[in-house]
Amino acid sequence: MFSSHYTNRLFGRTRGRSKKKINLKNYYETVDKYKFQNFDEKSEYILDVGTGYGETSIFLAKQFPYRVVVSCEKYIDGNIILLKNIENNKIKNIRLYNGNVYDVLEGISRECINLVWIFFPDPWPKNRHAKRRLITSDFLIKLHKNLKENSEIHIATDSFIYVRFILNSIYKCKDYFNWVNQSEINLSIKDYFDIETKYYKKAINSQRKPSLFILRKL
Ligand SMILES: C[S@@+](CC[C@H](N)C(=O)[O-])C[C@H]1O[C@@H](n2cnc3c(N)ncnc32)[C@H](O)[C@@H]1O
Repeated sequence: MFSSHYTNRLFGRTRGRSKKKINLKNYYETVDKYKFQNFDEKSEYILDVGTGYGETSIFLAKQFPYRVVVSCEKYIDGNIILLKNIENNKIKNIRLYNGNVYDVLEGISRECINLVWIFFPDPWPKNRHAKRRLITSDFLIKLHKNLKENSEIHIATDSFIYVRFILNSIYKCKDYFNWVNQSEINLSIKDYFDIETKYYKKAINSQRKPSLFILRKL
């Protein structure tokens, strides 16, 4: 089970700062149309965690049209943009889970996920908030149970504190994953994927170089 030092509660914003009025009834009706229900045996799945404004989900859906992208995010302002982009791009292979990734993982008892993306998880840099960080060895091991053979987890962060924390988590589960880009850690995300999310741009504008970790299930 999860270490008592860490929490699976979801912290952070549900609404943006702008307090722009949102018709929640319309929002939930649209969410319902694209709502993630469950993992079926026939499909291949990509789990996209903490999608913010949904850039990664749109990118993955286009890159892997034959897979289903499960986009997990509780930030309503971000999900509204994602839903607009799904409709404008006529994308059929995204399912949205408006909430915590732990709820999605809760009901899975088999290996059914082909890829996990976690781009710029909240770093919670203050020591007193460290237990809110999503990437822990317990979380990685939980994902391991639900990943198919040889499947990968891709994690991006621009926080030096989080890099150290993630390295420590990877080390603790070295029997579960191969860190495949270990010798290429100086490459940038753009060397792998042509994608810019809001938090990627924030990092670049502040001259912080994001790191990408690619872990493959052993
Ligand atoms: C810093 S933002 C990054 C957004 C986006 N991936 C990007 O690169 O711009 C992190 C997002 O993760 C979401 N998040 C944090 N913990 C989560 C969890 N347990 N399940 C689902 N989403 C989560 C937050 O709501 C937040 O929107």
